[in-house]
Amino acid sequence: MAVSYVVPNSSNIDVDQVWIGAHLATMAGTAPYGRVDDAALAIKGERIAWIGSAADGRRLAQAQGAAIGEAEGLWITPGLIDCHTHLVYGGNRVEEFERRLCGVSYEDIARAGGGIQSTVRATRSSSREALYESALARLRCLMMEGVTTIEIKSGYGLELGAERRLLEVARDLGKNLPISVLKTFLGLHSLPREFADRRQLFVDEVSGPWLAALSGAGLVDAVDSFCEGIAFSVPETEQFLQAAKQQGLRAHVHAGQLSDMGAAQVAAKWGALSADHLEHVSAEGARAMAAAGTVAVLLPTAYFTLRQTTPPPVALLREAGVALAVATDNNPGTSPCTSILLAMSMACTLFGLTPEEALSGVTRQAAQALGVLKDVGTLEVGKCADLAFWRIERPADLCYGLGANPCAAVMYRGKMREPPQGRQGRDVALASA
Ligand code: NIG
Ligand code: FE
Repeated sequence: MAVSYVVPNSSNIDVDQVWIGAHLATMAGTAPYGRVDDAALAIKGERIAWIGSAADGRRLAQAQGAAIGEAEGLWITPGLIDCHTHLVYGGNRVEEFERRLCGVSYEDIARAGGGIQSTVRATRSSSREALYESALARLRCLMMEGVTTIEIKSGYGLELGAERRLLEVARDLGKNLPISVLKTFLGLHSLPREFADRRQLFVDEVSGPWLAALSGAGLVDAVDSFCEGIAFSVPETEQFLQAAKQQGLRAHVHAGQLSDMGAAQVAAKWGALSADHLEHVSAEGARAMAAAGTVAVLLPTAYFTLRQTTPPPVALLREAGVALAVATDNNPGTSPCTSILLAMSMACTLFGLTPEEALSGVTRQAAQALGVLKDVGTLEVGKCADLAFWRIERPADLCYGLGANPCAAVMYRGKMREPPQGRQGRDVALASA
């Protein structure tokens, strides 16, 4: 799909709305940010139909009798994509936050039955309604910042019924809200206590009947495993990824968050869409990911919350040719973060990404990490009209501000939704003529 700059022949381009006078960061093509100034973007139904100059866009709209949106001076980017979240869970872990600040480590808390296990207890005892409502509040924060696609992992149920409930809540959020939701079965997140002396049985159950049941119910777009000393081993992860592959499912892997167990190589070996975290990854792991097209999903707000000191080797990943995505990792333990803009900012300040890499990381590369680049992630003719409108002077502003929300409006599949009330109390409304 190429960005089209051809002067429209109004007889053969069918459009029903044209947004005129914006700067576009298409995130496609060779110019920085895929920038197009004083542009127009035309939409037919749910898809982008044409991109060109403001003057041509106005003629096109008039010839077609299409609605005109004046986007004078605003920037339009692809709708943002949060490609790694654990959005649906019960309770919170504020007490652990306080304990960690007194010097107790994340691993020690986990080994003592806290950490993920404490959220599993809170999640199992939460009603479906409570899970939905608390996740909805978090989701609204992300949507106010221009997020139009989100990945949501299960992993805090760790029994079949509870995992199903989490995935159903994720599905229902996607049904009831305009945002697109991709559901990931994080079957191997933590060994539940009832399986404490039956590890292999748990991995067999997750990889066998649980995966079959959840996938059969249409609740699984991909699987995930936390491959780590305090979680699951390489062979356990491989068993799960192999089972997923047999079901035709793609995978993500929590890899190299706390140590390098070779999880990046495992992700690559099984053709995983992404390996996520990667504070600890070798050159060999990076090369394997590049060869397999496995995206590195960087999670700077988790790194920040855990006060980690070894950032991912971004230069090594870049040199190897690994695509870099950025996400919030929203979860109660390591990243109670509902701001994708903060994740972008921290990707720059803590990990050394350029603002262009950070924006690409939450658009194009995030789409790649979810296997949905053919439909979203860039502004190109034929793709879904998922758009974020920004009151900014240049794209780097999205990474520069800390705590500001310059999002003026969000469009999901061609439909403009209520303009978000940003944290600065903006009241921007884009009126279609
Ligand atoms: O991505 N690392 C594993 N999973 C989450 C944390 C889960 C938790 O602590 O509740 C993460 O950081
Ligand atoms: Fe995570």
